[in-house]
Amino acid sequence: MIRARITGTGSFLPGDPVSNEALIRDRGLDSSDEWIVERTGIRSRHLAPANVASSDLALEAARRALASAGRAAGDVDLIIVATSTPDFVFPSTATLLQAKLGVHNGAAAFDVQAVCSGFAFALATAEKFLRSGSHRCALVVGAEVFSRILDWKDRGTCVLFGDGAGAVVLEAADDPGILATAIHADGRHHGILSVPGHLCGGQPIGDPLLRMDGQAVFKFAVRVLAEVAAEVLGAASMAPSDLDWLIPHQANIRILQATGRKIGLAPEKCVVTVDRHGNTSAASIPLALDEAVRDGRIRAGQTVLMEGVGGGFTWGAVLARF
Ligand code: UT7
Repeated sequence: MIRARITGTGSFLPGDPVSNEALIRDRGLDSSDEWIVERTGIRSRHLAPANVASSDLALEAARRALASAGRAAGDVDLIIVATSTPDFVFPSTATLLQAKLGVHNGAAAFDVQAVCSGFAFALATAEKFLRSGSHRCALVVGAEVFSRILDWKDRGTCVLFGDGAGAVVLEAADDPGILATAIHADGRHHGILSVPGHLCGGQPIGDPLLRMDGQAVFKFAVRVLAEVAAEVLGAASMAPSDLDWLIPHQANIRILQATGRKIGLAPEKCVVTVDRHGNTSAASIPLALDEAVRDGRIRAGQTVLMEGVGGGFTWGAVLARF
């Protein structure tokens, strides 16, 4: 049986960190470092300059992931980019990344849109392609420039998000690898987190900025992150005690802590980057994964649970052995 294994990770953050104090000062916000840290755990985030797009961040993350896997661009036969902030309406950011990377072998390339669950959806999708035997070497990327869709007058949302990209190389293998995946959606909740606008005749129609009912999102996130963790652990006949690391989508430190408690996991087993990255949507899980791999926390043979939740509403998890 063909299985899929993560063989390399990479990530990229644009520019210098922007502290809460600097953000409040530069954007003229009625907020405080104390409020942001206490309610969210966020101390700083990275914001991409205006001329940097999701595909640029994806390119750096992808190059680093390929290097760590010992693979060349020409080895890749499938590119999936999870993003809610694509460079263009079309073509996909994945095809733009393909061109920038120099993958000229006819590899399939497409985007996945599941907002902050995007990386879990993309990784679960790539795993199915590899297990089917149709593809052998996938590049799975989460890349976002959420700073472009924020309302800088809405202090309840604009302090939460950041820009960045993370990537993994997923290869066909004899052993897992990916032990279990689960992805879900419930469109009835589309209104609690959305950018409810579109383009028509060259003009934005509706509201082109991010809107969120923070408390509704918070409660939904904690519930489904605990549920989907139990689902993939059950599918792999494993218990929370078998986990070495939990990498939840990095939205709010209080969501991470509540999820860890619900799953029954010691807080030190949770990889946390939200304090320095903010919420980078589809990029948050691969950014955190790459950091923990590169600093030596995640080692060969360890079991890692990655899980995301986001607009749609969508949620999903990937359980992997490294
Ligand atoms: O990827 C998924 C995306 N999003 C999330 O996961 C976010 C989930 N939700 C949250 O993280 C939290 O709900 C927030 C951090 C967004 C908000 O925290 P909260 O504890 O739910 O605060 P709240 O919305 O109930 O607001 C409490 C107060 C309000 O003032 P009043 O009405 O009590 O006077 C807000 O206006 O805090 C005020 N507030 C702020 N004050 C200073 C909201 N944002 C700020 C701010 N600085 N940046």
